[in-house]
Amino acid sequence: MNLSKNKNFIVEKLKKVKFPMTCLTAYTAPMARIVDRHADLILVGDSVGPVLYGFKSTREVNLDMMIGHAKAVAKNSKNSIVVVDMPYGSYESSQKKAYNNAIKILDISGAHAVKLEGGESIWRTVEYLTKKNISVMGHVGMLPQKFNGRYKVFGKTAKEKTRLKKDLNILEKAGVFSIVIECTLKPVVDEFIKNVKIPTIGIGASDLCDGQILVTEDLLGLANFQSKFIKQYSKLDKIIELSIKRFCNEVKKKKFPNKNNFYK
Ligand code: KIV
Repeated sequence: MNLSKNKNFIVEKLKKVKFPMTCLTAYTAPMARIVDRHADLILVGDSVGPVLYGFKSTREVNLDMMIGHAKAVAKNSKNSIVVVDMPYGSYESSQKKAYNNAIKILDISGAHAVKLEGGESIWRTVEYLTKKNISVMGHVGMLPQKFNGRYKVFGKTAKEKTRLKKDLNILEKAGVFSIVIECTLKPVVDEFIKNVKIPTIGIGASDLCDGQILVTEDLLGLANFQSKFIKQYSKLDKIIELSIKRFCNEVKKKKFPNKNNFYK
């Protein structure tokens, strides 16, 4: 693994991006191959827990799961920046632990960067990582790992507004290359992103962010999570169900397999 090479890849990619930036999640090789042809950035999100494994929250996701999915995605992407979520419990308790786990993720998977949730509470760890040449993406606003599966819109109280302002500033100073802002009131986001020089990526945040991210399964109609910030572009669940129903019917009726499906 070459951390400087990862950093240069991100810098060069960001120079070429036509903003707003397009960011999507992928957890598997087939999805990565498709997303990589279109999106500027692929996130191997810990949303993999609720979306693929049916977990109640992202807190149940562990490091080995993230590494496995990150490897499948990074090995099957060549154009997009590949960022991997550091799962709950892998970075909060000590800078050294965060460093060792980040290195493990990047080394085994071949991804370019890691993402950590939080601002003021973890900025020293973020700075520790960036000073050691690890590329880091921030994540502020509504934090799924903190809320443990219970989503609520962030930025409604004076305390939360101050939190967002502080978190954005402190993460930028700590050296992150970009920041995700999740499920936060638009006027609050608009007020504070003006002063942020690195790309801000919104999910249920604001159209004025420098990019947008969605969980790919949500936009495809393959997940059962519903939220105002999701736009469903297709209903793949219906197509999958129809195909499975047809296979089962054809086997029962002895229409499949037929002579074209045998080796003679
Ligand atoms: O885990 C994830 O997919 C994320 C996005 C929702 C930003 O963090």
